[in-house]
Amino acid sequence: MNTEIVIINPENFRDSLGELRRGAEIICNGGLVVFPTETVYGLGGDATNPDAARKIYEAKGRPSDNPLIIHISRPEDAEKYTYTSDMYYKLADRFMPGPLTVIMPSKESVAITVRAGLSTVAVRCPVNPIANKLIELAGVPIAAPSANLSGSPSPTCGRHVIADMNGRVDMIIDGGSSDIGVESTIVKINSDNSLTLLRPGAVTLEDLRSITPHVDVADAVLHSLKEGETVLSPGMKYKHYAPRAEFTLLDGNAVSRLNYVKEKTAENPGLRTAVLCFSEDIDGFSDITDSKLIFNVGKSDDLRMQAHTLFYCLRTADEYGSDRIFAPLPTTDGLGMALYNRMLRAAAHKIVKL
Ligand code: TXA
Ligand code: MG
Repeated sequence: MNTEIVIINPENFRDSLGELRRGAEIICNGGLVVFPTETVYGLGGDATNPDAARKIYEAKGRPSDNPLIIHISRPEDAEKYTYTSDMYYKLADRFMPGPLTVIMPSKESVAITVRAGLSTVAVRCPVNPIANKLIELAGVPIAAPSANLSGSPSPTCGRHVIADMNGRVDMIIDGGSSDIGVESTIVKINSDNSLTLLRPGAVTLEDLRSITPHVDVADAVLHSLKEGETVLSPGMKYKHYAPRAEFTLLDGNAVSRLNYVKEKTAENPGLRTAVLCFSEDIDGFSDITDSKLIFNVGKSDDLRMQAHTLFYCLRTADEYGSDRIFAPLPTTDGLGMALYNRMLRAAAHKIVKL
């Protein structure tokens, strides 16, 4: 398939309405368009068209029992596709448009293939102006998973999206680097109006608890699944976000991390070793490994920068042919929970206690 690639600056997206109209037309005709959002790039198709959903699963190489999020341009559009509640509007007033996805009972208008046969559907209203305008122009909700090939880290820049999706979709909109860098927070509204956090993101557990104290965290968010365990969100059971290189999390302080990586590189000097490190810790690593394999993820207390760079660094380490990657194990407060959740999966739960 020939993929049209267009570059749009989110700050001047109004100069590119022609391209966005063309993208919207592709969606309405059952085609696929990759578009930027504030979290990660999405692989979009018409959520009311069962064939478009099938094409999405195919382009991504995704099992079709893992449902898709539908993207709307205004929070109140959820009415057309779901049975909303007061709790939805409490969440929407505070966090939408933005990086929050809410799971509610679905109406029939959402293609069953989008929901992977479930009675519920996940709804999100992105704030990125390109995403928001594309949805508005399409006039239909856009079903979109992250625009990576299934299993690899979500793309957060044009280069990474083109690497995975060129030739698989009708159009790719390159809107630059994703602001947040990790996928949206997913929360389910239960029948008693309590919430279950299924995937942490930039809307934190603390943020959700400021709306209602009744928020629990699904087990799979911070722990490994036991053999045969059932999951609340089908996506939890799949291997996720993993770079090709072996990825290991180091649970220790700056000194013990540096010493450990030193030891490992001395043991195996032939391996290309990449490290994700905090800006204050960079110096020590330059004697150990190739400088382009040392990724500055921001200051140790700058969780936003760490989220912004995580997938970018993992994918870039792969592009540079790294054999293995080491990174500090994050804590789980605030945005740290999202980092911990993604890094644990990317590392297939490999943590070295130092
Ligand atoms: O930030 C994001 O959410 C990005 C951008 C593109 O919006 N999208 C994204 O989609 O991360 P995806 O498909 O990669 O992840 C959606 C997750 C999957 O793990 C899926 O299992 C879960 O949401 N999900 C979708 N619908 C669900 C439902 N009805 N019940 C439970 N989990 C659901
Ligand atoms: Mg994904």
